[in-house]
Amino acid sequence: MKKILFVFGTRPEAIKMIPVIKEFGVRSSEFGVKVCVTAQHRHLLDDVLEIFAIKPDYDLNIMMENQSLFQITTSVLKKLEPILKKEKPDMVLVHGDTTTTFAAALASYYLKIPVGHVEAGLRSYDKFNPYPEEINRHLTDAISDIYFCPTLTAKKALLKENINPKNIFITGNTVIDALYMILKKKHKFQNPTLKKHFPLPTSHFPLILVTAHRRENFGKSIENICNAIKKILREFPDCKIIYPVHPNPNVKIPVHKILGKLKNVYLVPPLNYSDFANLMKISYLILTDSGGLQEEAPSLGKPVLVMRSVTERPEAVVSGTVKLVGTNEKIIFKEAKKLLTDKSEYNKIAKSTNPYGDGFAAKRTVDFIKYYFGLSVQRPGEFYATTKKIQ
Ligand code: UD1
Ligand code: UDP
Repeated sequence: MKKILFVFGTRPEAIKMIPVIKEFGVRSSEFGVKVCVTAQHRHLLDDVLEIFAIKPDYDLNIMMENQSLFQITTSVLKKLEPILKKEKPDMVLVHGDTTTTFAAALASYYLKIPVGHVEAGLRSYDKFNPYPEEINRHLTDAISDIYFCPTLTAKKALLKENINPKNIFITGNTVIDALYMILKKKHKFQNPTLKKHFPLPTSHFPLILVTAHRRENFGKSIENICNAIKKILREFPDCKIIYPVHPNPNVKIPVHKILGKLKNVYLVPPLNYSDFANLMKISYLILTDSGGLQEEAPSLGKPVLVMRSVTERPEAVVSGTVKLVGTNEKIIFKEAKKLLTDKSEYNKIAKSTNPYGDGFAAKRTVDFIKYYFGLSVQRPGEFYATTKKIQ
């Protein structure tokens, strides 16, 4: 029986890996599976593990207050070594582009353990945007042996880098599997602010959902984002803004300072995935610098203004649901105003396209691992974009 070791550490990695872990669970007679969390995030990660009832076999517990990239990289390398030596997995699976991802891939390489990269091939081609994710994913792909691409664009990027096409497979993004899993459940908001102020559905006022946490946006850009929100509220007092604030002190402190006392702005702690997914569903518009939201929101038919200068997820920009607006206060305001006032513009961008997945990415991932190990003969079928909307 082949042994697979999952290694991940942050909220989005957990959300996107859990569908694959669950899929392996369904096929427990074919593989032995172990889960190691680095806990680069602590409570953000624990919230996801709890909601999906995942109990890791190993927890490296590395998170420190306001941690540096050096701290994350060195502690993952150091703490993972004995686990890899003990478990001797046939493959380590990592996800995406965090520093946990890169360090876990590097540790596996040092011990000559094959690496599978879920969500491989994303590229912005700008080494400081997003920082350090763009380089983390290049380095992870340089180390990896098998590549699970969410889209055809990602596969093409890897082909351009001379990766062997035999080892590249388009699965769709597992985040859409996670979204299907969570939205299938009957839901009541758990967060007290949501319970009180946002009884479902919220059609009588435009609800704007905001998130921002990227390292390259620390400082002036975070302030610009907050000032743009202030401006939106001044011009559109009927709007309500809900902003689950990332616990990073570089985000939390300025956001609370600028927006803390404003009427109709609800600053809440990070929400569990169930509350958050259902909040996306009732939102009118999403302002974010997150990677995952750019994938989830189009599947729900929600327009997204992305507060970054470049994106490694061009598919929804091309299909029109996502617009890159950067971090200039005036531009963020102008683009939000357009969507709040011009119904035809809103309807044009709130199209229900689903470029990132159909809910079967985890199944394809496991099918391809089986094929890679020679446990099945037929190369499985790949994912093609769909226009189906998540209900
Ligand atoms: C990390 C990833 C980023 C990913 C993001 C998802 C790196 C370098 N960054 O960024 O790619 O998009 O996660 O959210 O890999 N903190 C807490 N509790 C938590 C989590 C974080 O208090 O549960 C605080 C701590 O002070 C911590 C700080 O946030 O030191 C920063 O966490 P870190 O993982 O380094 O950066 P993120 O911005 O979360
Ligand atoms: N998310 C969540 N609660 C929140 C904010 C985000 O569950 O309060 C989810 C969101 O739906 C998405 C993921 O977390 O699946 C995105 O994480 P984040 O923005 O931290 O990271 P990124 O996607 O930018 O790497």
